[in-house]
Amino acid sequence: MIFARFAAAPVRVLWALAIVGAGALPLTVSSYAQDAAAAITDVAPGSLTPEQIATDRAAWQKSDCASCHGWSGNGHDTGPVPPGPSLRATELEFVDIREVIQCGRPGTNMPSHDRLAYTDDRCYGMTSADIGADKPVKGLPLKPAELDAIASYVAGYLKGRTDITKDECEGYYGVGTAACSAYK
Ligand code: HEC
Repeated sequence: MIFARFAAAPVRVLWALAIVGAGALPLTVSSYAQDAAAAITDVAPGSLTPEQIATDRAAWQKSDCASCHGWSGNGHDTGPVPPGPSLRATELEFVDIREVIQCGRPGTNMPSHDRLAYTDDRCYGMTSADIGADKPVKGLPLKPAELDAIASYVAGYLKGRTDITKDECEGYYGVGTAACSAYK
């Protein structure tokens, strides 16, 4: 897999440090607010409170993820762009999910969402000059707290989910949404 060559261990360590540093920011997402140092590096599937899900989901809904991954993250294209894989079936952990959202996936359609990606070596240790034609296109720019929230939504809510439920659909689109009656 092409990504393997970008996943060097030192980059991951740097990232873990950067994310711990972000714990000092006044985060509104609080899957980790109570214990910034420990929890911010990992968000386990199914571990979010309803309030955290609502906050994290709002960040996902404001970004461009659903146009390729589908509203439910199941990998169905819902826009005029190529589909992305199911995020419900992802095996990545929080830190790696956040990195993919921030930096994109080189050589694929997965965009970067850090405004400054590849202007310095923050992404996989590479600048635009290093990465050349494999540089991911730019998605909507996201701030660090937004990257945290969306990565938390993927790792803590979407990951590991199987069938879409009516509750899930109504949580996303609102209670009573007609289209949600398609689900049980
Ligand atoms: C233009 C389409 C597009 C958009 C927009 C997009 N993605 Fe992706 N995404 C992809 C594709 C394609 C891949 C698969 C890349 C590959 O082949 O490795 C991917 C891969 C991923 C992965 C890695 C999954 C894994 O298990 O390896 C994550 C996590 C992810 N996307 C999250 C997001 C999030 C969150 C957003 C919104 C902030 C987003 N994506 C926006 C197309 C997109």
